Amino acid sequence: MTAEHVAIIMDGNGRWAKKRLLPRSAGHRAGFRRMLSLCEHAFERGVRCLTLYALSEENLSRPKEEVEALFSLFREFFPTQAPKLKERGIKLRVIGGLALLPEDIRAMIPPSEELTAGGTRGTLYLALAYSGRGEIVSAANRAVKEGKEVTRETFSSFLSVPPVDLLIRTGGELRLSDFLLYESAYAELYFTKKFFPDFTNGDFDKALKEFSLRDRRFGRI
Ligand code: FPP
Repeated sequence: MTAEHVAIIMDGNGRWAKKRLLPRSAGHRAGFRRMLSLCEHAFERGVRCLTLYALSEENLSRPKEEVEALFSLFREFFPTQAPKLKERGIKLRVIGGLALLPEDIRAMIPPSEELTAGGTRGTLYLALAYSGRGEIVSAANRAVKEGKEVTRETFSSFLSVPPVDLLIRTGGELRLSDFLLYESAYAELYFTKKFFPDFTNGDFDKALKEFSLRDRRFGRI
């Protein structure tokens, strides 16, 4: 079975930089470069949805200098990558607490999403200022506002991304860190100690291969 929806917690940029006596911002830039290559590669491998955890809501409390370094990467990402994604038929969607982002970054999102809206090859979901619990709570509130009693199935339509098949976390930690909590209910989990900037396209293929060998029973026998 192939993984249609792969989600990645891109962890370890800071430690990658520390190992090289570089500032943490250099780790994020290395992660950014890795992310761009991985994005191309994943869709070439037949992945239909790729969701990347680029910034958690909690990450916003890191020192200002680090948060600003990440914001600079976002500022670079939208104008340079949206046209490339469009060319490759990939739709871009940004999810998360977008109100928490600086105004100029927020303003880059709708035009980038519109530019790529016709993409039929796959969807790249970028999670910015994201919280899984936050997403569930706001989905529940929207359902309440619409006066709808939800089921597990209909609740999914209030969420931002489809169910996750394979959840990869780099950097050696064994936790979900508030990422796609509802959507990952039956995700296969894949943890690697490699720091994200060292996680190669070949490593990604290894994760896909392992996924294809897993026995997904969804609670059945
Ligand atoms: C976690 O590693 C990683 C982040 C908080 C940022 C991830 C961002 C990128 C890979 C670039 C994203 C860029 C765009 C444009 C989407 P960490 O800093 O927590 O690493 P550590 O655990 O080693 O300290």
